[in-house]
Amino acid sequence: MSMSVAAPQAKGKCAEDNIFAANNRANALAEKIGVDKVTNGTVGSLLDEDGNLVMLDVVQKSYKALTPKEIVSYAPIQGYPDYLEAVIDQCFGESRPDGYIRACATSGGSGVLHHVIHNYSEWGDDVLTSDWHWGAYNSMCIDNGRKLREFELLDEKDQFNFASFKEHVTNMVSKQYNTVIIMNSPANNPTGFALTEEDWDHVLAFLQNIIKDKDKNIILVSDVAYLDYSGEKHECRKFFKKFGNLPANLLVIVSYTLSKGFTMYGQRIGAMIGITSNADVAKEFVDVNQYTSRATWSNSNSAAMKAMVNICKDPERIVELDAERAKYFQLMKERAAIFMTEAASAELKILPYLSGFFITIPMTNSKAVCDIMERQNIFLVPLKKGIRLAVCSVSKKKITGLAALIKAAITEAGAQQ
Ligand SMILES: Cc1ncc(COP(=O)(O)O)c(C=O)c1O
Repeated sequence: MSMSVAAPQAKGKCAEDNIFAANNRANALAEKIGVDKVTNGTVGSLLDEDGNLVMLDVVQKSYKALTPKEIVSYAPIQGYPDYLEAVIDQCFGESRPDGYIRACATSGGSGVLHHVIHNYSEWGDDVLTSDWHWGAYNSMCIDNGRKLREFELLDEKDQFNFASFKEHVTNMVSKQYNTVIIMNSPANNPTGFALTEEDWDHVLAFLQNIIKDKDKNIILVSDVAYLDYSGEKHECRKFFKKFGNLPANLLVIVSYTLSKGFTMYGQRIGAMIGITSNADVAKEFVDVNQYTSRATWSNSNSAAMKAMVNICKDPERIVELDAERAKYFQLMKERAAIFMTEAASAELKILPYLSGFFITIPMTNSKAVCDIMERQNIFLVPLKKGIRLAVCSVSKKKITGLAALIKAAITEAGAQQ
């Protein structure tokens, strides 16, 4: 037994992130044999066709123009007021829901999820998300003494599995005071799936009904980390309108981040946006979450907030921002189209991809298949029930031919789809 001095609840915690591990192996190999000979499909950031990390031009210019004061100041704990206005505007666009809307700055989308779990579920509670989800959700729950519970995202027709969703929510509401649900749509990580307008209607009608006249609450987290690359600007935001006029015991919290939409991953800035029909719930939202910010990381990154605000207050720069995003959205669409066309001809099954940074190939034995791929200098992420391919980072040239190689590796490993 190795020596340990960690407190009992912290003993045994170990972040073995297989995404970063595979990425490190890919980078080490690229250094040795050349970048052009390695395909790194693990990276969750936008890379251009030459494999360089993209920082949007309009964001670069904004950073370079920041004053020392904008960079180093302590910002208000809740975030600069003009930043909070800018995130609400950027997030919802034309589809701002009715009701009280409040925002608090956070350390990226991760900060939002932490605060929601911490402030809206109890010690020992279950927190619900779909079986296909971002792995960090699990660590965030466990680190806070909660348990992540999974409904099946897709039914046998590869459509939203409303029956599974209903079953889990019904059970949780019967047992818990609060039910926190994390819904990562559109551009779900890792599948690229999104709920349709009708799916959202069913979900919201059901949620309202199940807590009607009950002393119970539902907190629905809309994780839109990849929103800005999920479709036409106004079209992909339409569903936000549905979050207005909901009962007071159904609070919607949008998890908004500048990591992807502004390519500011490492700057750690985002916001939680609460939408409620009740003034008390709106006030409490700011009070409890601001308190938790003070009690964890204190205030948020001033430079990052100001870099965003200075873009958003200038209509010309917003045009530039939208054009750059549209360009990269198009690029990912082209990469995904190559892969999906080839997957169809190779009879390689993939999960329904609509948009976003990742495509998932469902299978058993994903680790063995990834190992075979690695021998060919191709790095992918093994998940419990499949493999994740990052279309945000693999060039059109390198993605060409990949589907057939994965199909062959599945056969070699004796994996099932
Ligand atoms: C589904 C999902 N939600 C939220 C995030 C939040 O990221 P960040 O904390 O960098 O904003 C990510 C990042 O990978 C993600 O994949």
